[in-house]
Amino acid sequence: MGQGFSLGKLGQWGRSPLLGIVLAVTFFPAPPTPAQTISQRGMVTAAQPAAARVGIEILKKGGNAVDAAVATAFMISVVEPYAAGIGGGGFALVYHAPSQTIHALDFRERAPLQATPTMYLNEKGEVVPRASLDGVLAAGTPGTVAGLATLHQHYGQLPWSQVVAPAIQAAQQGFAVTSRYRQWATMRQSVLQQDATAARIFLRYGQVPPLGTLIRQPELAKTLGAIARDPKSFYEGWIAGAIADFMAKQGGKIRQEDLRTYTPLWRSPICGTYRVFQVCSMPPPSSGGVALVQMLNLWQLLPPTSTPYDRGHYLAAVMQIAYADRARYLGDSDFVPVPVTTLTSRRYAQQRVTEILPRRARAQEAVAPATPIQLAESDNTSHLNVVDAQGNAVSLTFTINGPFGAGVVVPQTGILLNNEMDDFAIAPNQPNLFGVVGIQANNSSLANGIAPGKRPLSSMSPTIVLRDNRLHMVLGSAGGSRIITTVLQLFLNVVDLGQDAATAVSHPRIHHQWAPDTLFVEPTIPRPWLKTWQQWGYRVEQTRPWGNASLIRVLDQGQLEGAADPRGEGVAVGW
Ligand code: GLY
Repeated sequence: MGQGFSLGKLGQWGRSPLLGIVLAVTFFPAPPTPAQTISQRGMVTAAQPAAARVGIEILKKGGNAVDAAVATAFMISVVEPYAAGIGGGGFALVYHAPSQTIHALDFRERAPLQATPTMYLNEKGEVVPRASLDGVLAAGTPGTVAGLATLHQHYGQLPWSQVVAPAIQAAQQGFAVTSRYRQWATMRQSVLQQDATAARIFLRYGQVPPLGTLIRQPELAKTLGAIARDPKSFYEGWIAGAIADFMAKQGGKIRQEDLRTYTPLWRSPICGTYRVFQVCSMPPPSSGGVALVQMLNLWQLLPPTSTPYDRGHYLAAVMQIAYADRARYLGDSDFVPVPVTTLTSRRYAQQRVTEILPRRARAQEAVAPATPIQLAESDNTSHLNVVDAQGNAVSLTFTINGPFGAGVVVPQTGILLNNEMDDFAIAPNQPNLFGVVGIQANNSSLANGIAPGKRPLSSMSPTIVLRDNRLHMVLGSAGGSRIITTVLQLFLNVVDLGQDAATAVSHPRIHHQWAPDTLFVEPTIPRPWLKTWQQWGYRVEQTRPWGNASLIRVLDQGQLEGAADPRGEGVAVGW
């Protein structure tokens, strides 16, 4: 997307929304519909072609969907370093075909044990600008390596070292800079310049490297080599020592104890029913599953729509309700009570749906209390899907949060650290990178406030759809707080509008997250739709396209049909 468009022209993230809109409309043509991939024996979608190809090779060598997903994720960590990696964390849903069951693994980053609720505030109680976004203090304890090792330990068939090997080779040999790499490196150039190791690896003489430049990561290859021998080395061995030393020297909070005590957690997926489909996604600390099921429950109680205007209005209305509840109630359920059962119940949807009126927008205050905020955007994070010949599937989303994470690399290791601490509500009503807020009611504490060892609230929504307990669709996306609404629309495009995978993934998107009180629309949304929504009372803002989604669906004859988002550089590869 947007060949040659430099986000650097916008200055800092979201500083100039108006200029952003003008540039977005000028520079982002309608995303072309990607090629549809059809296959019989297995399929992998990933945000970079080299990673998807590695996944398919693993399937061909006798690996199952989990082997392929783990190999693809390690490869993404090398060739899409700005989006996800071993310095971050994520979530995975696994469909185990023999038992027809879905399992959810949480390998989200954790707040360091020394973290405090006020760690991003100054003595006056004011938020210190960018403290949760740039540098070592922004990083949570990484979970990716433990997560991928746990997935493999439970379900993998091929030797662990074999699934890590392609990433080691890629880190040694290097990958060529793409336009997407340049886009995000331009946005983060000033932060990367401040860290000597990050600048050496990801920039050239302090500048964003030209297209095609080879990015070699020999230190990362060495780290991955150690992980291939023993994944515990990340948490207890020399790698853990290097991370803790760097943190102590630079004023960060992650210590050996944070790493030694990190554990991925198996959780029960959140599932809802939509027509004949069972839709399952990630539970807290992701908000994805709760919000997705909530929106689907509301959506099916609304009257069928015959125009795109009505469809857009009702979509926006259900999004508003889900995101208002997200701001108030969602957080790490190991630390705060999250009313999951209520929020995802049909009964709750029946109560709330009565608030939605035809052809009339509701102001933010009418849905729940809040304060005005500003929004910044980022599409980082990486999603991949795998289906194998036995019908097992993995939907995996992982991230280092913003582009190039915290912009710091742990010396000698090549590990680019996340800035996931920004996903906490660092203060009431304080918008994070994605503009989402946490709100308090009646002196209650912030559901998504910081606490030692707590996991920050996420929007990552790896999703698996079943029909009669059999695999029907595997999907997910990048895109920060817009992930959930992207997954919602992708699913509805297929099951309501009857679109094939390629059409569904390229279809124009809208997004409403309650705060700010704005209906965001992609540049490809036709002007008459936009005008109509404005007439119905929405504040509409056209921004650059968002999300980096992909899906695989199982056709009636058992073939697999897949596609990756034309907004990104990903592909669907079949076998
Ligand atoms: N870091 C974005 C998310 O987890 O939602």
